[in-house]
Amino acid sequence: MEDKRLFEEAKKSWGKHFEIAYLEYPDENVIRFLSRHKSEGGNIVDLGCATGRHTEAAVKMGFQVTAVDFAKQCIDITKQRIERLGLSNKVRYIQNNDIDISVEDASQDIVIAWGVLFSYKKDMVAAYIKEICRILKPNGYIFCDCRTQRDSFFSETNKNEDNMYKRMDGVYYYIPSLEEIKGIFIDAGLFIEKVELFEFTENNMEKLNSWYHITAQKN
Ligand SMILES: C[S@@+](CC[C@H](N)C(=O)[O-])C[C@H]1O[C@@H](n2cnc3c(N)ncnc32)[C@H](O)[C@@H]1O
Repeated sequence: MEDKRLFEEAKKSWGKHFEIAYLEYPDENVIRFLSRHKSEGGNIVDLGCATGRHTEAAVKMGFQVTAVDFAKQCIDITKQRIERLGLSNKVRYIQNNDIDISVEDASQDIVIAWGVLFSYKKDMVAAYIKEICRILKPNGYIFCDCRTQRDSFFSETNKNEDNMYKRMDGVYYYIPSLEEIKGIFIDAGLFIEKVELFEFTENNMEKLNSWYHITAQKN
């Protein structure tokens, strides 16, 4: 599938998904990460903000937040959420295009990219991570997640000739090895500070969810 069409389908699919699946509570790992950095304050991009759960958490911790999503529905939902809290002056919203984040060069202390980066083909993921590096200040952080090859999703699904990605509900998924992840981050100009393994099961332990949580810093 050509890249442009892939983005269009992903945009449509995520927009529809979050019209009915409202994520209320923030991920505790994101909260831990933000808590560690809140004394420094600064600018954060919540990349792929969806329903704005991490935008809300970051604003409440005192960060200046840019909520970015390429699906208009997600920007609208996040905007309504922040307006209801009376915190509109702390957030700006950007409906971006594909993987152009449309945020100024070297302007961000932190980018949170939770559940966002790896739903593309390998070369697109690499370009996306370079784009994140572009908007980070020197020493700025990215905190993101990525399914591991232990995940049931990886073993159960059809993979393409690279054996690395598949389509699901109109969305591609790239599930790299840790070595590949390291290569992509290094090429983008990011130093990996920490990789943690986070796992849980579903369906009476039949399905394994296995994730890397990656903290990296711009060189
Ligand atoms: C799995 S959801 C994650 C939601 C959110 N980060 C959270 O943890 O609540 C993926 C979100 O990323 C957005 N997204 C996916 N690819 C994107 C891209 N290239 N640029 C901007 N947003 C993107 C989708 O529209 C969707 O809202």
